[in-house]
Amino acid sequence: MTVPHYENLFSNRANKMKASVIRELLKLTQKPDIISFAGGLPNPLAFPVEKVEEIICDLLKDEPTKALQYGSTEGVTELRNQIAQRMKKIWNIDGDAENVLITTGSQQGLDLLGRLFIGSASTIVMEAPTYLGALNAFNVYSPQIVSIPLDDDGIKVDLLRDYLMNAVKHNIYIKFLYTIPTFHNPAGVCMSLSRRKKIIDLAHEFDLVVIEDDPYGELRYTGETLPPLKSLDDGDRVIYLGTFSKTLVPGFRIAWTYGPKTVIDKMVIAKQAVDLCTPPFTQYVAKEYLKRGYIDQHLTKIISLYGKKQSIMTKAMNEYMPREYIRWPVPEGGMFLWATLNENINTTDMFNDALAQNVAYVIGSAFFADGSGTNCMRLNFTHPTDDRIVEGVKRLSNVVENWGKAKATETAAPREQELITGV
Ligand SMILES: Cc1ncc(COP(=O)(O)O)c(C=O)c1O
Repeated sequence: MTVPHYENLFSNRANKMKASVIRELLKLTQKPDIISFAGGLPNPLAFPVEKVEEIICDLLKDEPTKALQYGSTEGVTELRNQIAQRMKKIWNIDGDAENVLITTGSQQGLDLLGRLFIGSASTIVMEAPTYLGALNAFNVYSPQIVSIPLDDDGIKVDLLRDYLMNAVKHNIYIKFLYTIPTFHNPAGVCMSLSRRKKIIDLAHEFDLVVIEDDPYGELRYTGETLPPLKSLDDGDRVIYLGTFSKTLVPGFRIAWTYGPKTVIDKMVIAKQAVDLCTPPFTQYVAKEYLKRGYIDQHLTKIISLYGKKQSIMTKAMNEYMPREYIRWPVPEGGMFLWATLNENINTTDMFNDALAQNVAYVIGSAFFADGSGTNCMRLNFTHPTDDRIVEGVKRLSNVVENWGKAKATETAAPREQELITGV
């Protein structure tokens, strides 16, 4: 009997697909004694189990044939309507069900947009750092990725403008800008209001399409609410991605793309080939969850749970982290704290030492298209228990301190040698 050599049969596209760094690292962090800041998981305490049970029981009594049948590719109309109404209510965004496509997670939205817009040699603009899942989704279609750095106020719009001017000069046509303006993953920061307005101005000036990915926009613990780019957009330039993964449950895999009808219609055709439809069953549960008005009470609960964890995390960071080697902006919402260490501390090299102390994070370079960001790390604060957050930060602080000290003497050593040589 012969066995096919599958490796030789894979397409060029398949050969370019690499196992996600996070996935590989996460495997190492699954042991129960490891305090993991590495995942991006919501806390199971935030799952509305009783309400979901109530709705499922009713659903199987009242609408079993619809909920258990195939559905339309666009999604359950009532859910699309509910989402359009909610977008109007919370963000003052005008539109209706026709602007909404239900996707199987917003990860699928990213893939479909990649399919639609990225051809070989297409140029796209992303933030640096950016969401690893977006890098993975877009990279399948082999774009040229231009990375624009972030600071504590989001993407550096002046650098973006310089790049766009340069692109015009060299006849480079940009397919889209992908951004996570609110509670960025991984950077935790929010784009300031003035930069949001600037992005919309730039979009008009340079005929740019903007993909706004917003899984965390409703998870604000402190500070003032900021409007999504989509709500500032008066020209159908922004395609917005929303999801119930962080505000309801990720296991439903219910998300939506909200955009111009031309784009939604094309995405429907692409999606048909991928999965025919997102599971109607969980769409019906989500529809009922919104219809019964449960989501707002639930959000209040999650915000209080995560807000407390955020403040425990930042308090512990303030108390234990050796500030001479590390700094971080305080996240006002979302799920992540992004820390930048001194330039000469490589968080990939440091990772094994952290694991030896039974604490884990995600290495910074995973979030950069060019593999830079080697002195950064992402810490999730929503999943660990309160006690483990404090204990984990203590352990990580020791690791950072050891590396900081070791690197400080390493850089001191050559200087001393230089002196000796000079003498
Ligand atoms: C910025 C960003 N976009 C998209 C996703 C994917 O979310 P979903 O569960 O809806 O696929 C995530 C998940 O963590 C995310 O952080």
